Amino acid sequence: MMKKKIEQLQEKKAKALLGGGQSRIDSQHQKKKLTARERIELLVDPGSFEELGMLVTHRTSDFGMADQIFYGDGVVTGYGKVDGRLVYIFSQDFTVFGGSLSETHAEKICKIMDLAMKNGAPVIGLNDSGGARIQEGVRSLGGYADIFYRNARASGVVPQISAIMGPCAGGAVYSPAMTDFILMVEETSYMFVTGPNVVKTVTNEEVSSEGLGGAMVHASKSGVTHLTAINDVECLQKLKTLLSYLPQNCEDKAPSLEWKIGSEMLSGMSDFIPENANQPYDMKELIHAILDPKSFFEIHPDFAENMVVGFGRLAGKVIGIVANQPMVLAGCLDVNSSKKAARFVRFCDCFNIPLLVLEDVPGFLPGTDQEWNAIISNGAKLLYAFSEASVPRITVITRKAYGGAYDVMNSKHIGADFNFAWPSAEIAVMGARGASEIIFKKEIDASVDPAATTAEKEKDYAEKFANPYIAAERGFIDEVIHPDETRRKLIRAFSSLENKVDNLPRRKHGNIPM
Ligand code: HXC
Repeated sequence: MMKKKIEQLQEKKAKALLGGGQSRIDSQHQKKKLTARERIELLVDPGSFEELGMLVTHRTSDFGMADQIFYGDGVVTGYGKVDGRLVYIFSQDFTVFGGSLSETHAEKICKIMDLAMKNGAPVIGLNDSGGARIQEGVRSLGGYADIFYRNARASGVVPQISAIMGPCAGGAVYSPAMTDFILMVEETSYMFVTGPNVVKTVTNEEVSSEGLGGAMVHASKSGVTHLTAINDVECLQKLKTLLSYLPQNCEDKAPSLEWKIGSEMLSGMSDFIPENANQPYDMKELIHAILDPKSFFEIHPDFAENMVVGFGRLAGKVIGIVANQPMVLAGCLDVNSSKKAARFVRFCDCFNIPLLVLEDVPGFLPGTDQEWNAIISNGAKLLYAFSEASVPRITVITRKAYGGAYDVMNSKHIGADFNFAWPSAEIAVMGARGASEIIFKKEIDASVDPAATTAEKEKDYAEKFANPYIAAERGFIDEVIHPDETRRKLIRAFSSLENKVDNLPRRKHGNIPM
């Protein structure tokens, strides 16, 4: 009797494992995509995945759906371990109705999101879906909204990560958009609100899916995606690496690695800054020098490259890095770099990740493009994000720290814990040339040789203000340090801040200028 029942169970499970059937699995592979279950297996520690809701089916009878029942209903859900740490996963199964989202498909996703919230573990969504289950109409829309609601509720409680590994279109994009990080696979994935056909009808623009919302478009133009991968395997590897820097939830700390503290002095850094103050250098070289070897994991590498953000380890402990990049737009702050850094700072603050700012910023990028695209509100996002962040925060000024950008880039005045400067730092209201042209205008105009007078005034101004000492005298800078000491100072300073408590004023929530 029992034997028969067990056979029945095995039959059902075997059927469920086949999803939409072998021919659709083959077609998925032909499209250079892995199946929902293959993806999960690559993501989790071997044998650790426990599936929930394997036998769920849809409840629709319209349009001949009663005859088309597939166990799982287009999404594989459950929990498993990544590097020994619990994660909740949903992985859409394109072989079942194109991974489209039905009422029951949504219920399965909601169930694991609720479990993740209650048990304090990240939610990982592997997205590959034709959108709303067309046969279900508004019930599908309701299912999406149930997920969106949970995305908002889970925000800042547990990390939420979305990998886009196939189509993701229409309102469906808004669930990933509310999560903390998006990864996209090149050529096989796309995201857009309205697809190429609608675009052609409405605006007469001809564009492919890839050109409209492919991985590189969102990595470099819109900034919607944080990371891209050349295929499913690389995508899942990057997802695992990302997870290795994150805590399980907002009450937890990111996992540390063992580190035996040595002298931690750098060498040769005194020549790092070029003689000519306008010559660029690669801030990423400094980041690599400061961090533990091979620990830098850049986020958003192809977007707003004038700002570098990412995770790294310092003496084994995870920190978030926000750094101006003098190689691109001279490291100016602009709309996109402000948005990019603000979002990253918010993430780190949600999840107890200390922040290191490496500063070399000549100011905000001027121009109508910037003003009309609201550099005012967008710059304010970064200012607000730093000001509100209660995690340990340290700034090192390597060279320029001019004007409003000095204030914004985690200055002492907006709550940074320690502010260090290299002797090459220039902390002033603006560059020496611009400043002297304004304040000595009359003298320059009246002089016999205006060019020579300008040069002389510029030199005077630079000598007086283009240094870190006036700021150090006022205590705006805690210490002017030898560049070779940077790593050691940072390790000690972050270590001293490990138990930092900084309570925000009592309120419902702030109103960040979004
Ligand atoms: C039901 C769907 C489906 C959907 C695909 N399928 N999308 N079934 N609802 N939304 C089914 C197909 O009928 C097919 O079934 C199988 O999935 C694979 O689809 P193909 O078209 O053969 O695959 P492909 O050529 O790779 O094209 C994929 C696709 C295309 C680009 C996603 O299927 C497509 O355009 N689908 C419709 C997309 C759409 O308009 N969705 C609704 C958007 S509105 P068989 O049986 O042949 O295997 C929306 C609103 C969300 O999503 C709002 C949230 C607030």
